[in-house]
Amino acid sequence: MNKAVIPVAGLGTRLLPATKSQPKEMLPVGRKPIVQYIVEELIRIGIEEILFITGPGKTSIENHFGVNYELVQTLREKGKEELLAELEFDRVPAQYYYTHQRQLLGLGHAVLCSRSFADDEPFVVALGDSIIGLNAQSDIVRRMQRCFVEKGCVAVIAFEQVSNEKVHQYGIAQPKSNGEFFELSDIVEKPTLQEAPSNLAVAARYVFSPKIFAALDRTEPGKGGEIQLTDAIRLLIKEGGKVWGVQLGVNERRHDIGNFGSYFRAFTEFALADEKYGESLREYIATLNKG
Ligand code: UTP
Repeated sequence: MNKAVIPVAGLGTRLLPATKSQPKEMLPVGRKPIVQYIVEELIRIGIEEILFITGPGKTSIENHFGVNYELVQTLREKGKEELLAELEFDRVPAQYYYTHQRQLLGLGHAVLCSRSFADDEPFVVALGDSIIGLNAQSDIVRRMQRCFVEKGCVAVIAFEQVSNEKVHQYGIAQPKSNGEFFELSDIVEKPTLQEAPSNLAVAARYVFSPKIFAALDRTEPGKGGEIQLTDAIRLLIKEGGKVWGVQLGVNERRHDIGNFGSYFRAFTEFALADEKYGESLREYIATLNKG
């Protein structure tokens, strides 16, 4: 299982004007753009082929993962070895692919665009705007892949316990049992607090069997005219497929960069953890608190 799909085609309207002419997935959190953390997380667990589901205005993502020979040459000529080391991520032995989602019909539709890439193999989906854990030091996807194989699943989803105020923002699990690993009896997209079967929210990582494509084909557009991935997963469960959830650990907070509140929090946390600048930033923030 060495293929992953990263959907990055969305407009990122909640982050306007920052995202007017640059993808939200390229906004920096600390020193790196968001999508670089996601690629590094995937490569660390052995993913070798990555497909970006992209769209107009997203070419900077492709440029970021391509080699910039002119920049490399200039840094080499100037003897800037430590800066060259910052570019090592673009030399990893992964293969990148790009395809356009030609109409923005939602996350389910974005995943459908990966059908020929996935072919007949299980694959990972990692949302392009969510980092798992400080500096993306998480192996949640590896645990999900193991669960997928051991339990004979059609889908495995990462979940995070969220507060009551947040359940209406995410897909919410109806688990059959408690614990880190659990089977789902249902999943509900953005429920009200009253409708929510738990506080376990989908956390931006999935492992799918290719059966998800047939389920997406049969999924009618839902909320906002979009093809919801959650609705297709629900269909898989209804038809008897095993869908399991894996809970994120305590050091695996999901940083969803979709809105300014969580973007600012993620940036601050990563900057405070920076080896070189973290300490002085902490001191600076303390002076602001006094003022
Ligand atoms: P979001 O729904 O959070 O992204 O999708 P968005 O549509 O860009 O956000 P707003 O509401 O306009 O602010 C989560 C991830 O899925 C991708 C997005 O790029 C993001 O990384 N996505 C979403 C697609 O690739 N295609 C879609 O049709 C929708």
